[in-house]
Amino acid sequence: MKKSRIGVLTGGGDCAGLNPALKWVVKTAMDERLEEERGVRYEVLGIRDGWRGLVTIDPAGSDTEGRIVPLNPDTVRTWDRYGGTFLGTSRLSPYDPKNDCSKLVIENIESLGLEAVIAIGGDGTLAIATRLSREGVNVIGIPKTIDKDLPETDYTLGFETALNVIVEEVDRLRTTAGSHKRIFVVETMGRTAGWLALEGGEACGAYIILIPECEFSMDRVNELVTEGRRAGTRYEIILVAEGAKQIGGTEIVKKEGVDSFGHKALGGIGNFVAQEIEKGTRLETRSVILSHLQRGGAPCAYDRRMGRYFGIAAVDLVVRKDFSKMVCVKNGKITCTPLKNIYGKLNLVDLATQYDADRYNGRRSILNTP
Ligand code: F6P
Repeated sequence: MKKSRIGVLTGGGDCAGLNPALKWVVKTAMDERLEEERGVRYEVLGIRDGWRGLVTIDPAGSDTEGRIVPLNPDTVRTWDRYGGTFLGTSRLSPYDPKNDCSKLVIENIESLGLEAVIAIGGDGTLAIATRLSREGVNVIGIPKTIDKDLPETDYTLGFETALNVIVEEVDRLRTTAGSHKRIFVVETMGRTAGWLALEGGEACGAYIILIPECEFSMDRVNELVTEGRRAGTRYEIILVAEGAKQIGGTEIVKKEGVDSFGHKALGGIGNFVAQEIEKGTRLETRSVILSHLQRGGAPCAYDRRMGRYFGIAAVDLVVRKDFSKMVCVKNGKITCTPLKNIYGKLNLVDLATQYDADRYNGRRSILNTP
């Protein structure tokens, strides 16, 4: 029987849902019943630490650092129950202008004899996949990011588990906030897209939600808080995405500089908003940064299912030799889209239909909004 080799990697920030996707890539590719139908026997090589795994082996294919691991259905049997990624990840970009190693990556894909590479990642990882596909490499993308900011898909792995963390933590904060009549500002992740803060805030019933797409005024935030107290609220939960900014302001960073994808290290807006509320309203205010807790823990049922479906669909594309695509979900249907359609684009909250910029909260009209 004809043989073929697939490489699979996870790149960028980890999240829940990666291991389920890896499991189902392996199980589907190496399914013995499907082998007969396909007339091909697939082998799957796991590439450790994202694109870095393809940089640290030398062009003769010698893998001194053990970055390439053969996978099989037995190895991955229990992987869907776990968060993170058993293959490891990195934020290394082979196209980093300061150290372009894209040629080496292409040579190594050839020397490993990979017919295709399945890259599971967010905007950075999939931008690299797109550029490699332009250079003739057979790649398939699987969307993941708790930020849910990739276009052309209604879902990205990790998002729903992260929302569950937000809801759980806010539920915990409510009892202590209520006991002390305090305001809690909770900072979520979400660099350019506010989905985590918005949908997390909607799910946990936050009083105010600040997102990167809508620059906010501290005066308005304080006005809303004061209004709430006058109406009898005992405490408030305010969610703010790490990328949110004041009108005319810039994002708050926890350290200067950018990573090899050009991303800033954001963090600190929650503390800032809390201090400004306390100054402006004289109400006791605390802040909590949820940070990487949102990326941790076991995948929720939805991430396990979506990881499974995306993993299976990615292998379907390899079997069809339908490369340069990202698997996705649109209107409830698992499908695919050309990688070039997502390159350099982001899926942001639509302020006209998905946010109430006056109350700084979720929309209050759904069927009557155009
Ligand atoms: O993967 C996206 C993300 O979770 C962003 O929301 C956040 O800004 C960033 O990753 C944090 O990355 P790191 O793990 O490098 O701190």
